[in-house]
Amino acid sequence: MSKVKAAVFASGTGSNFEAIMKSENLACEIVLLVCDKPGAKVIEKAEQFGVQTFVLNPKDFSSKTEYEAEVLQAVRSHDVEWIFLAGYMRLVGKSLLEAYEGKMLNIHPSLLPAFPGKDAIGQAFQAGANVTGVTVHYIDEGMDTGPIIAQEKVPVFPGDTETSLKARIQAVEHVLYPRVINEVVCLSEFNTVD
Ligand code: GRF
Repeated sequence: MSKVKAAVFASGTGSNFEAIMKSENLACEIVLLVCDKPGAKVIEKAEQFGVQTFVLNPKDFSSKTEYEAEVLQAVRSHDVEWIFLAGYMRLVGKSLLEAYEGKMLNIHPSLLPAFPGKDAIGQAFQAGANVTGVTVHYIDEGMDTGPIIAQEKVPVFPGDTETSLKARIQAVEHVLYPRVINEVVCLSEFNTVD
């Protein structure tokens, strides 16, 4: 039986993309990387893994609706059923949300609802938190506000720097995200088998 197809949306270095690709027995096949930052490192990573890339610059579109229409066409043409955001620095609009309702996940480097938005690690560090963490959640129209699926705590140690904290958080992300992807995809498959 062929695996259900999925896309990763990412704008950055792609360490989570890489962790997903390297995860053994992933319940779905990553067939596409969608990237809104031409030149981002994650594009090279996708090429190394032989994953097709769809790179577009939102500035080339006159509206978010037009931009998302292109994205939607790309994911549909690859028969994508699931979308995993991994450092995609953009709010998802109505057209994608409607098309992939309940089928879009995001990973965020804090224990949401604490420290949403950009630079969650820096925010936690500056706030002097002694515990922060990682959240995987469904996407909705808000900024890191969708229903939470899984969270894992990460301690902040005295003497930590933002860099050391980021490394500890990302190590957790790289295990948690593939695991949650598998759980959610498998559960959905199970529920649709008749
Ligand atoms: C991760 O920390 C993720 O939680 C956040 O963006 C970062 C992406 O990092 N949403 P990378 O590009 O996967 O290394």
